[in-house]
Amino acid sequence: MLDDAKKQWKLIESRCPISQSTLWSTQKQIYIDEGINIWRDRPSFVTSSSYVADAIAEIAHAYLLESAPRLNLDEPYYFIEIGAGSGCFAYRFLHGLLRRLKTCAVLSTLQVRYLMTDIVPDIVEFWKRNEMLGPLVTNGILDFAIFDPLTDGKLDIRGDSFDALCFVNPPFVIANSVFDTMAIDAFQFSDGSIEEVYSELYMHEHSSLKEALIANDVVLKESLQSIARPRYENAMIEAILTDYANLTKKGWKTSLPLAAFLIVDALRVLTADKFALLTCSRGFTRPQDAKVEYLDLSFPLNFDALSRYCRSAGARQVVSEHSSTSRRILLSAFGFNSALTSTQLKVDELVAGRRVFSLHKDVLDSLPKDNVIDALIVLAQRTNNDPSLFSTFVSANFDRLEKCLEKEPGGNNDELIATLHAVDEQIFAFGTSIDSSLRFAKDGDALGLLIKVWRRARQSTPWAKAMV
Ligand SMILES: C[S@@+](CC[C@H](N)C(=O)[O-])C[C@H]1O[C@@H](n2cnc3c(N)ncnc32)[C@H](O)[C@@H]1O
Repeated sequence: MLDDAKKQWKLIESRCPISQSTLWSTQKQIYIDEGINIWRDRPSFVTSSSYVADAIAEIAHAYLLESAPRLNLDEPYYFIEIGAGSGCFAYRFLHGLLRRLKTCAVLSTLQVRYLMTDIVPDIVEFWKRNEMLGPLVTNGILDFAIFDPLTDGKLDIRGDSFDALCFVNPPFVIANSVFDTMAIDAFQFSDGSIEEVYSELYMHEHSSLKEALIANDVVLKESLQSIARPRYENAMIEAILTDYANLTKKGWKTSLPLAAFLIVDALRVLTADKFALLTCSRGFTRPQDAKVEYLDLSFPLNFDALSRYCRSAGARQVVSEHSSTSRRILLSAFGFNSALTSTQLKVDELVAGRRVFSLHKDVLDSLPKDNVIDALIVLAQRTNNDPSLFSTFVSANFDRLEKCLEKEPGGNNDELIATLHAVDEQIFAFGTSIDSSLRFAKDGDALGLLIKVWRRARQSTPWAKAMV
């Protein structure tokens, strides 16, 4: 941090409200300049792992079933993804959803249209070339658009083949790990009083803020500033500030996702207040867990504030409870008056990790029975090259795997299979990324070997090939 004696910290931005920092425009520029390259090494398992994308497909399916009485099956049903990044989520989500709809008596004729959007032209070009996404485009299900929800205020979104979207059915908007990369303000509350958190930016050695952000080497120094009320023109935001000030907790800080509020407002106008908004990302749902901690181009999202904002605009909600991981989900349904009981159940299942069994058994059954390395490659492929699943498994079973691999790499893998069966819960639990495992791996040790195997498997799958 700043007092790290070895580093020469340089002030690069003097104190201002966090939402006015150049952090936001610089981050945006990083996404635009890096294009698809940013996704080659960047962990995206919080939202895009096969486990999570499939779980979200299950949540969307439950929501569609609860919306069914209001749907017009003669008209398309639009999903719009904001900030779709690598496209991996859309691919996995759509496969999970279409599979469920095919066998769903009520919704088998639903005409799904999915519009992936991002602000980055290079990414949209990547999607167009991607051989995994191609068939979905050919079938008229998928389309792409360059779209910036913060500046394209009119939200006139259309893809190459979808015409101007006409929402006979209320659209389903997905914004995963997007609001946490957009502007926030932050406040400290104590005994009914509110002070604003201002930031100063410091970096060392780098020649630009952009370079320092990419290296995760920027420090935000906070200081407090008294404020006059109203701080915002928007009464709904003011109400959240007042509610927070009245919480009986001393000296606590939290953030307000200002850009997310603006996007909710724009979506309400676009859809005449009839839409669902699902967001999944790093963040917190209890104000007392608040963190204003900048890391890896994002602040953890204050789901509580977003939920309060949408509720005060009349939305029904499904929200993930507190859990030991930092992944949270919020689904806000505007213009929707029924209970969302089974949708909530699906969210609870995801958070509690109860969706484990069937998928895991499927993976286990597909493992080669007589070769450890082949079994590991298949394991990596069947977990869709999801580093979190693979490395959770590796770290949870390090000793057994090491023994197994030392004994006969390439030989009989009964012990591996037994180990796999013993950890069926953990393999799909939320875990660390392959990058963090890599830090502990040495060439020649078991973990290093597993990681090499994982990398080989990663290079040989169709999705990965398309990324190269
Ligand atoms: C952290 S990534 C999340 C990608 C993907 N949704 C996921 O869950 O992995 C944020 C995405 O939002 C896009 N993005 C960044 N800044 C944005 C902005 N100001 N407005 C809209 N999208 C933005 C980026 O290009 C990037 O694809």
